[in-house]
Amino acid sequence: MTNVKEDIQALTEQIRYHNHRYHVLDDPEISDADYDRLFKRLAALEAAHPELAAPDSPTRRVGAAPQDAFARVPHRIPMLSLENGFHESDISDFDARMKRFLSDDAPIQYTVEPKIDGLAVELVYENGRLKTASTRGDGVVGEDVARNIKTLLAVPLTLTPPRKGNLPVLLEVRGEVYMEIEAFRRLNEDRIGKNLAPFANPRNAAAGSLRQLDPRVTAKRPLDMFCYGVADPGPTGIAAHYDLMVALQAWGLRVNRPQLHVCDTIAGVQERCRVLEQTRAEFPYEIDGAVIKVNHLDLQRRLGEKSRSPRWAMAFKFKPTQETTRVTKIDVQVGRTGALTPVAHLEPVEVGGVIVQRATLHNEDEIGKKDIREGDWVVIQRAGDVIPEVVKTIESRRSGEERRFVMPAHCPVCGAGAVRKPGEAVHRCPNADCPAQAKESLKHFVSKGAMNIDGLGDKKITQLIEKNLIREEADLYSLTYEHLIELDNFKDKSANNLLKAIETSKSTTLAKFIYALGIRHVGEHVAQLLADNFGRLDSIQNATKNDLTWDKKEDTGIKGVGDAIAESVVFYFQDPLKRKAVDRLVDAGIRFGETEALAESAVTGKTFVLTGTLPSLKRTDAKERIARKGGRVSSSVSANTDFLVAGDSPGSKLARAESVGVAVIGEEELLALLGEGNNSRNGR
Ligand code: IVH
Repeated sequence: MTNVKEDIQALTEQIRYHNHRYHVLDDPEISDADYDRLFKRLAALEAAHPELAAPDSPTRRVGAAPQDAFARVPHRIPMLSLENGFHESDISDFDARMKRFLSDDAPIQYTVEPKIDGLAVELVYENGRLKTASTRGDGVVGEDVARNIKTLLAVPLTLTPPRKGNLPVLLEVRGEVYMEIEAFRRLNEDRIGKNLAPFANPRNAAAGSLRQLDPRVTAKRPLDMFCYGVADPGPTGIAAHYDLMVALQAWGLRVNRPQLHVCDTIAGVQERCRVLEQTRAEFPYEIDGAVIKVNHLDLQRRLGEKSRSPRWAMAFKFKPTQETTRVTKIDVQVGRTGALTPVAHLEPVEVGGVIVQRATLHNEDEIGKKDIREGDWVVIQRAGDVIPEVVKTIESRRSGEERRFVMPAHCPVCGAGAVRKPGEAVHRCPNADCPAQAKESLKHFVSKGAMNIDGLGDKKITQLIEKNLIREEADLYSLTYEHLIELDNFKDKSANNLLKAIETSKSTTLAKFIYALGIRHVGEHVAQLLADNFGRLDSIQNATKNDLTWDKKEDTGIKGVGDAIAESVVFYFQDPLKRKAVDRLVDAGIRFGETEALAESAVTGKTFVLTGTLPSLKRTDAKERIARKGGRVSSSVSANTDFLVAGDSPGSKLARAESVGVAVIGEEELLALLGEGNNSRNGR
């Protein structure tokens, strides 16, 4: 029994450590699969010995059973909001106010950090243990979302005590729960695939995901959290906001350290705000402003608060990503999968620095739900670089002249009867030969993230199709100089450049090729998952729905691939016409770096651990070569390890490998296994 207890403790510690590395430090040490193995082992031990399972075990994060309503939780200290400023002069006014209030003209140190667009949450830790978690609510009383918050891996259930001193007995941490833009997009893609209404923006997605009565739903949503303050920093004895954030991080909480800047002058604060606004599109999450705080906590205390906001902080709000404009007309675009998407043409308006003239209306049901009519005044928004969309119409501005939109019964390009399958929200053009579909597929095929063939824009593709020079992707590879030079839009140089670009595109990666095919629901990310997991085109082509769909319990399928994606991949490759089109591409000479390498080898399916310095190969290089031949590299030695590759100064992994009887090899043997012995390696 003592052994089991120790095992549970050791596994718990390891999992906590890896959670922290992954979710707080963004620097994982082990692969997802290794992590899953640790997790499963712990869950199995706890299931067999429930009396030994800790109440705050990491396995408890998967989500408890649903409840009827959220309990109300009063905040011991109210959660205030921030006063907003919109102009740079509001920042200098703020500084002047601080100095006036303190009756001191000495320069004040400020911190500047991004204002994350999510929802505010309070975490209460007592003696280092997470006791309650609540939403802001009205600031005085919030909703108890503890069971949901516990599913967020960025939130530690227990804090790490400092090496010197103690954790505060009571710590009320505040922060923002949010969803990354990419995760939001994937969630929406998945929802659209399942005929569920997409979320309007990452903030709504985060709020909707956290405020779930069933924590098991929250557990499946990719939520994150940044902590940005504590209700009462007094008992910590810490002197400044910056140091407080450093301490929170040391205790295991996730803070936005790389984006937390200390500025000694108000000009420096303004500059920092400017930089944040200019680079906001580069952040993986949405930010709607910058938060400026007086750095020193004793000054914060002296400044105190007004009724709704602290005096010592302000939000500098960025230009909005929502705007109001008019819908001039609604028409329908045909996508590469035949989807007929209604699109609103707008009176041009600037949104977050970009002129917007069009917005997607998604499908017939969305238009119906929002009751969007031609001539309507509407609110539109851009989230990150997502295609702009119409949020709502402004009914009070209707004149009565607005025209309702009716989904056309026919494809606007080829005239085929449009079909809407039962249970689906989209209308589709069923004609596989529809020129609009062909054109959109080709546009996608040549695009940057796909085959990256430069010099083939909309007009040129249209012309090539109209002149019957191309019908499908593989036809691109039969184009000749003589074909091109005949056309309006080509001159000697552009024709040669295009032919060169087409030739260069033949050598690509499996992921890019899969993405280029334009399979429904297979974006760049999913294509990469497919390539990483199957390694070869034929394996992807022959994969069954079962091989693809992620099943956590059974540990089958691919993490990140759900039903809708799996079905779509299988459906695509079952179509003999599609298979033929793919064969034609391969026959045209398209090659993936991986194909040749992934031929079965001694390395396929084997697990390696690397330790020490290898004589000639860099660690990343060795990893890549092993992965290319279908092997795996893990970071710790276990019974599942096949080979430990040891270089100079190997460290404890070597001893561990020897004690569990794992084969230990050197670089030369590794290269031999890879089929890259001296001769072949020099030939590369
Ligand atoms: S400090 C007294 N820092 O913005 C409030 N707030 O109205 C102290 N927010 O609901 C807030 N990112 O949830 C602070 N880095 C950040 C923030 C941030 C987002 C939210 C906060 C609050 C709203 C302010």
